Amino acid sequence: MERLKTTFLNVPVKNPLALGAGPLSGTIDMIKRDIDAGYGIVMTKTASMFEYFHRFPLARYHLVDYEYADRGRGYLDWVWFHNDHNSPLGPIEFAREVVAGVSDYAKKNNCLLVGTFAASTADEWINAAVEYEKAGAGAVELNYCCPGVSALSDIIRDGDATANYGDKLAENPEATSLITSKVRAAINIPIICKIPPILRSRIKDTVASLKKAGADAVELYANNHGMRVNIETAQPVGWGCAAVNTSGHLVETLHDVAQVSLEKTGIEIMAGRGMRKWSDAVEMLMAGAQAVEVCTAAYVYGPEYAKELLEGMNAFMERKGYRSIDDLRAKALGKMLKSSEIKDRVKPLYARVNPHRCVGCGRCYDSCVYNAVRMAYKNGTGMAKISRERCNGCALCSQVCPARAIDMEERSLEEYVRSQYHAHPGSPELAWALKEI
Ligand SMILES: Cc1cc2nc3c(=O)[nH]c(=O)nc-3n(C[C@H](O)[C@H](O)[C@H](O)COP(=O)(O)O)c2cc1C
Repeated sequence: MERLKTTFLNVPVKNPLALGAGPLSGTIDMIKRDIDAGYGIVMTKTASMFEYFHRFPLARYHLVDYEYADRGRGYLDWVWFHNDHNSPLGPIEFAREVVAGVSDYAKKNNCLLVGTFAASTADEWINAAVEYEKAGAGAVELNYCCPGVSALSDIIRDGDATANYGDKLAENPEATSLITSKVRAAINIPIICKIPPILRSRIKDTVASLKKAGADAVELYANNHGMRVNIETAQPVGWGCAAVNTSGHLVETLHDVAQVSLEKTGIEIMAGRGMRKWSDAVEMLMAGAQAVEVCTAAYVYGPEYAKELLEGMNAFMERKGYRSIDDLRAKALGKMLKSSEIKDRVKPLYARVNPHRCVGCGRCYDSCVYNAVRMAYKNGTGMAKISRERCNGCALCSQVCPARAIDMEERSLEEYVRSQYHAHPGSPELAWALKEI
């Protein structure tokens, strides 16, 4: 799969697919299995300084809606919750025992091994980073996400030495920048900072300050909290410190990857959270990611799922004539319109029924929020009629129509504005709006 070769952190990798940090990359044997499965990058299980997290929370995984989602293979939106503790080893031990024991195997098999860890004080972060570098890690990941201290406020009190971890630490950008810059000064291998989705609203500033502090890449995103309810038993699912993950989270990651990429700061992005299938990986690359991370799907389908993902990406690239990952990377960014451009470039439309295709099912009637659809019946056969004057051109009916019987046609801005005021014909706002055109 030559066309999947690329670079990440300026290191040549055989493909941009990373296995996310988790128990699948927590031991030498598991990491070897991941490397054999074909990942270009493996992020090791987080090892943290805080011993509570070496054993707790009790590991427990819940799949919700899995049956409904065709036992996962339909890629519908099954929901994953997990409680998971960090490695039973602390970072120094993990680096010496696990990373040192598998780093040569990773190099021999052309896999970038990234050591992921979490600490609290700057000295602890530095000592751990130095140890991972000595052990042969190709890069380190400073985990500003987990352990998820914020969900444990009844166990860990503010002011406690252990409170300054993971997602709590991430909320203090001065602290994460300082730690990143100190680690930068202490090691020579590249640094990735893993960011929790609680920072979404200030993601551009967060990434800019980490870049300034010396980060080579950011990873967007870790999991965070959520909940479902089993309505048969009224039992909350995922409540507490469990993390949630759905394929729906992909839209948030894609949006923020694009936002950060458009800033052109030069920082690389590893994109993850919500990836289920190979096309999700292509989307993330097209949104500007340098590498893509999969984790939950590799638990549900097995680490060898990498092969299916890579084959899917390769076949797609072959079909579309992309010769390399660089050919498709950031491809969607050039087509992103600014809000100011949308007014000029998004055309007003109206819906028109093709009478030869309409099956009279009434789905367009059900979904029209402008009351523009009427069903006409003749000899027991239905036919949709859409009022051009009332139609706002939103295009929902054309998408729900099972017979593809509705076409969207272009029209003038004036006609569109009149349709908006159809229910308010005498409104002074209408006269004003028409003047504005
Ligand atoms: C069971 C499990 C354990 C995880 N453990 C860690 C961890 O130790 N450190 C970490 O940074 N992320 C951990 N994660 C988060 C993943 O590395 C990844 O960032 C996240 O799940 C989003 O990717 P996904 O949507 O492909 O699962 C874990 C995820 C799962 C499912």
